[in-house]
Amino acid sequence: MVEQRLAHIRTFGCQMNERDTETIQGLLQQEGYGFTDNPEAADLILYNTCCVRENPERKVYGQVGMLQELKAKKPGLIIGICGCMPQQREELPVLLERLPHVDLFFGTHNIYRLPELLHRICATGERVVEILDEGGEPVEGLPAMRSSSFKAFVTIMHGCNNFCSYCIVPYVRGREHSRSPQAIVEEVQSLANGGVKEVTLLGQNVNSYGKDLQSDADFADLLEMVNQVPGIEWIRFTTSHPKDISDKLIRQLGRLEKVCEHLHLPVQAGSNNVLQRMNRRYTREYYLEIVERVRSQVPGISLTTDIMVGFPGESDADFADTLSLVEEVGFDSAFTFIYSPRKGTPATEMPDQVPEEVKKERIYQLIELQNKISLERNQAQVGSEVEVLVEGASKSDTLLLTGKTRTSKTVLFPGSQDLIGQLVRVKITAAQTWSLTGELI
Ligand code: 5AD
Ligand code: SF4
Repeated sequence: MVEQRLAHIRTFGCQMNERDTETIQGLLQQEGYGFTDNPEAADLILYNTCCVRENPERKVYGQVGMLQELKAKKPGLIIGICGCMPQQREELPVLLERLPHVDLFFGTHNIYRLPELLHRICATGERVVEILDEGGEPVEGLPAMRSSSFKAFVTIMHGCNNFCSYCIVPYVRGREHSRSPQAIVEEVQSLANGGVKEVTLLGQNVNSYGKDLQSDADFADLLEMVNQVPGIEWIRFTTSHPKDISDKLIRQLGRLEKVCEHLHLPVQAGSNNVLQRMNRRYTREYYLEIVERVRSQVPGISLTTDIMVGFPGESDADFADTLSLVEEVGFDSAFTFIYSPRKGTPATEMPDQVPEEVKKERIYQLIELQNKISLERNQAQVGSEVEVLVEGASKSDTLLLTGKTRTSKTVLFPGSQDLIGQLVRVKITAAQTWSLTGELI
C-alpha cells in the first residue's frame, strides 16, 4: 500500500487567508493528501502568507529559513510559499534569493492551479514560480475543507479598489470582483444543509459589494437573500468601510433578524489631517455620524474597529484626536496597530516618519485607554441574558466552554462538551476586559 502524503500548512493574516487555506486543503485532499500539525512528518509544507505589516513577513523568513535543515534531511520534501508575500512585485525576488530551498511560489489569484503546480515540481524536480497580476472573475466550484462544522466563512468578493495610502492589499489582492449573489446563496445553502449555523460574509470592503456586477443587487440586498436561507441562524460580515455604509444597509442591520448586532468599522485615526493623508475619504465628523445612526437603528449593537498609530506626520495633537475619538465612540474592542511602511505604497514616501519610540509610547497609551473602555462596556452586560453559539472548550480552563454572543463577545461558562456547535442561553455574571463569564440558563 502506498503511504498517504501529508501536508503541513501554516496560515498568517486575515480571515480571507484562512478561507483561502480551506480551499488549498480542499484541493490537496482531492489529490489524496492528509494533513499533519508536525512539519517533520510532512511531505509538503506550505506557508500561506500575509504582507499587511512587517512582523508576519519577518516570521515567515525566520520560520521558512529554519526549514533548510529539514529539507537537507528529506530531499523529497516540497516547501511552498503562497498568499500575499510572493504576490508583491518587489518582494518576490527577495524571497527567491533568500529562501533557495523553497520549491514553489504562487499568489492570491491562482490557488486553483495548486495541483497542476505540484505535478510540475514532481515531474521536473525544478522550482515552480507562478504569480498572476490580476484575478479577474472569481473562480467558482473549488473544493474546501472547512475548519468548523457549525460556522463558516463565505467570501463574497475579492480585492479592493480603495488604495488607502498605507495599505498593500490592493496591490496583492487586485481590484474588486464580486461573486454573483446566486453563487453566494448556493454556497450558504449548502453549508446550512451540512449543519452550519453561522456564516461570516468576507470581503475587504463588503459595503461596495455588487458595484462591479451586471445585477443591481448591493450588499444590503445580499444580506436579505442570505437571511432567507433556511438553517442559517446567524449572519456576520467583515470588513466595512465607513465611506460606503448606506442608510439602506443600516436599516437592514436593524431589520434582518439573523444579522448579528455587531459592526466592525475600521476608523484608523481620529484626526482629519491624518485621515485625509491616509486617503480614507471620510472625516472624523462623518464617522461619528455613522456611529450615531447605527446605534439609533440597532440598539445594543457592539462596535469594534481598527486603529493605527504613528502614520507619517502624525503629531501629538493628531494622536490626541485619536484618543478623544476612541473615548467619544466607546468601542467594545479595537485592533490596534503600529504603522508599518510597506514598499510600493504612497505613505512610505511621505515625509515625517514617526520615530519607533514615539509609535510605541502612543500604542501603549491607546491600548490602555481601550482596555479601560472594553472593561466598562463588558461590565454593562453583567446581569443580562444572552444567546451564545458554543465554540469549544476554553483553552485556559477545559472545564469551561467558550462561545460568542451575537455581539461577538467571548463568553466562558461551565457546561457539557455536547453543547459545542449549539445555541444556548447564558446569564452573564461577571466581566473581564476581553471576555464575559456566565452560567447556562
Ligand atoms: N501598517 C500598520 N497597520 C496596517 N493596516 C493595514 N496596513 C497597515 C500598515 N501598513 C491595518 C489597518 C487595517 C488592518 C487590517 O491592518 O488598520 O484595517
Ligand atoms: Fe487596505 Fe483600505 Fe482596502 Fe482596507 S479599504 S484593504 S485598508 S486599501
